[in-house]
Amino acid sequence: MLLSQLLHLQGVESVVLERRTKTHVMGRIRAGVLEQGTVDLLREAGVAGRLEAEGLIHEGLDIAFAGRRHRLDLAGLTGGRTVTVYGQTEVTRDLFEARERLGGTVVDCAEDVTLHDLAGDAPHVTYRHAGEHRRINCDFIAGCDGFHGISRSSIPSSVLREFEQVYAFGWIGVLSRTPPVSPELIYASHERGFALCSMRSPTLSRYYLQCPAQDLPEQWTDERFWEELKRRLPEATGDDLVAGPSVEKSVAPMRSYVAEPLRYGRLFLVGDAAHIVPPTGAKGLNLAASDVHYLWHALVDYYRRNDDAGLQNYSENALARVWKCERFSWWMTSLLHRFPETGPFRERVQRAELDYLFSSRAAMTSLAENYVGLPY
Ligand code: PHB
Repeated sequence: MLLSQLLHLQGVESVVLERRTKTHVMGRIRAGVLEQGTVDLLREAGVAGRLEAEGLIHEGLDIAFAGRRHRLDLAGLTGGRTVTVYGQTEVTRDLFEARERLGGTVVDCAEDVTLHDLAGDAPHVTYRHAGEHRRINCDFIAGCDGFHGISRSSIPSSVLREFEQVYAFGWIGVLSRTPPVSPELIYASHERGFALCSMRSPTLSRYYLQCPAQDLPEQWTDERFWEELKRRLPEATGDDLVAGPSVEKSVAPMRSYVAEPLRYGRLFLVGDAAHIVPPTGAKGLNLAASDVHYLWHALVDYYRRNDDAGLQNYSENALARVWKCERFSWWMTSLLHRFPETGPFRERVQRAELDYLFSSRAAMTSLAENYVGLPY
């Protein structure tokens, strides 16, 4: 949707095919932390009005361990850079609204989407909509269809290399109409497992707990969730926690994954279709946005200046940034979660790494510059 909107503003026509209904898409609770680069891109796309009015600027975050909270001064460590808390669902709402306002074509409930002739000069896409077979002839296809989409699997396996790390745990997430326990995010490392206190607004909280990967949301009653969250936070923070009924509850599996290359002929993979990060560094949505940035510029150079260098280099340029964010998300996950399989030596090393982090401005700066977002 973002790529489509940006291309539209540069006079490049596109069609968005969505497998689900708009209601389904708008019902999902996804990421919540936007890097400055993502905000800038949304502004260029002309969809940042509400984000600027309602988004919460965060200049720091807390990491809690051994019963104490330690503040990481993101702005102070990065020359004034910040992150913005604004839900991905709201970004999507703003994009739907902008595409409708500008007369963009977004087809929902597109079934049996199939990509054809990717390696040739004239690819096309076929799909079914309301029982009718349809075909789109196009110059290029942007595969923005997520990890389970058909784009990546349309690339011959002889071409694609996959890199993967699956974690034995997931996150159980709860959204509740309660004031956040703290004005900034708290990432908590605890012997019972990781916990995260986040938010969507001053009256809407988002909390997560590390849990076994196979847990089902039904196993986590609200009461059990709040009790466990409180146990994993420093005592004073736990005392401030305002519990309330959950309005959404879901378990997210954790995975690190990259497929290479991001280009096959006239197909370009973007976002989760090509790579997954565990949510610990809040990088998933931001990484999709940086892919869009590279592909948008590449396509505009191609149409405006007949210059295909950006398209030729898309995979290499985007992957260089993808791998840095994979590294960071994997590292933050390793730093803060319990890995029961690795034993007491690893736990002591983890604890030493947290102690070191808050004793070294260099270490804090490294975390902060990755968290606010590496340059494009
Ligand atoms: C969220 O608010 O959903 C959130 C925030 C930070 C993360 C992951 C998720 O690292």
